[in-house]
Amino acid sequence: MGTGMTSKYSRNKEAHSSTTSRRDFMRSTAALLAASGSLVPQLARAQDSGEDYWHMVRKQFAFGEDAVPMNAANLCPSFRAVTESMARHTADIDFDCSFNNRAKYSGLLESSRSRIAAQLGVSADEIALVRNTSEANNTINNGLQLETGDEILLWDQNHPTNNVAWEVRAQRFGLRLHRVSTPLAPRNKQELVDSFVSQMNANTRVLTITHVSNLSGIRLPVTELVEEAHARDIYVHLDGAQSWGALDINLKELDVDSYSASAHKWYMGPKEVGLLYVHSRNTGRIWPSGVAPGWGDDANTDLVGARKFESLGQRDDGALAALGVAAQLHDDIGPRRIEERVRFLAQRLKTGIADAGLDLVTPMAAELSHGVCITRTPAGQGGVLSNRLYEEFGIAGAPTGGIRLSPTIYNTVEHVDRAIAAVKALLA
Ligand SMILES: Cc1ncc(COP(=O)(O)O)c(C=O)c1O
Repeated sequence: MGTGMTSKYSRNKEAHSSTTSRRDFMRSTAALLAASGSLVPQLARAQDSGEDYWHMVRKQFAFGEDAVPMNAANLCPSFRAVTESMARHTADIDFDCSFNNRAKYSGLLESSRSRIAAQLGVSADEIALVRNTSEANNTINNGLQLETGDEILLWDQNHPTNNVAWEVRAQRFGLRLHRVSTPLAPRNKQELVDSFVSQMNANTRVLTITHVSNLSGIRLPVTELVEEAHARDIYVHLDGAQSWGALDINLKELDVDSYSASAHKWYMGPKEVGLLYVHSRNTGRIWPSGVAPGWGDDANTDLVGARKFESLGQRDDGALAALGVAAQLHDDIGPRRIEERVRFLAQRLKTGIADAGLDLVTPMAAELSHGVCITRTPAGQGGVLSNRLYEEFGIAGAPTGGIRLSPTIYNTVEHVDRAIAAVKALLA
């Protein structure tokens, strides 16, 4: 587009735009671009993490006073600031969808990427911003360079995008799959490690697992599993749908080969945004599922490293920019403080349910679980009881594996105690 046209158009736009909204937009953009500094300074500054602190966190969300969303394993409300940022960016794009106006979004996208990479202890070049965990898992199981007869070890508790998707690939390319079952009530980490290690052999090429299961709440000992796998030259893919935003994760220390997650779960970011981390040593071993303009052009910096996995054509620029706001809020509160709070709420919930004489599917031990808490229900009753939990008590959980409740940082102690009382009323 010619510059003459740009300036004429800009003048036109100037005449139509509201000074206030433009100023607001510039302010929000400046806030987002500030690499340091915080969005909600009182969240960042507070040393004390008592209930008053968490009430302040809860105020960052728009859900109703009486509502108890406790289904982070499926979907979280976004931080209010994320929703507002998306709305502002979307309005900005709708007001002026020229290349000229949208040019800033590539900077905002890179700012989101850098913040997330820094939080996860990896390089921005190792992060692809994709649509969700499902897509990221499929990129790995479609793209990893493998040969007929290669063996894949997978956990029978993986999400379908990380086990059924492998079955489809196995049928097409002659791979051999082994589904590993772990003890339903593991007593320690070693039992879990042994279940996988006993199935590894000279043909095993990939171990594909889930950090925290959405089906049982079991948390796998990833560090130990990676050590065992890498000693045998086995690639490790980790599905982090139930860990990103709930655990303080350093992917370099975990040393997984790839990791997938969704921003709309525990990260409380925009919907339909997710990440795929691919360690720099692996980018060349994985074919992209999609190819977009610029492919094959070595000088194209848009495709450096893991960016080659986000060839998705036109994206929702406002959502990708708003992801940076979610990242900033995680930095403000602190990933360690978030991890501890999720653990505290989950342990309180499980203890209350167990003390009522009810049966937990999820292990009680914090080292074998994290935020996903499942209470056993009579066979086939999970759906009816979860519906009643919502209809009669206003608590939104899920019918997965029984009654699944997954509390996170916007839940208060009062929410958890209400949930314990409700589950007791339904089951005891
Ligand atoms: C472990 C796990 N992996 C993947 C997914 C899929 O997530 P999404 O629908 O955001 O792609 C889920 C959804 O609950 C999950 O629990």
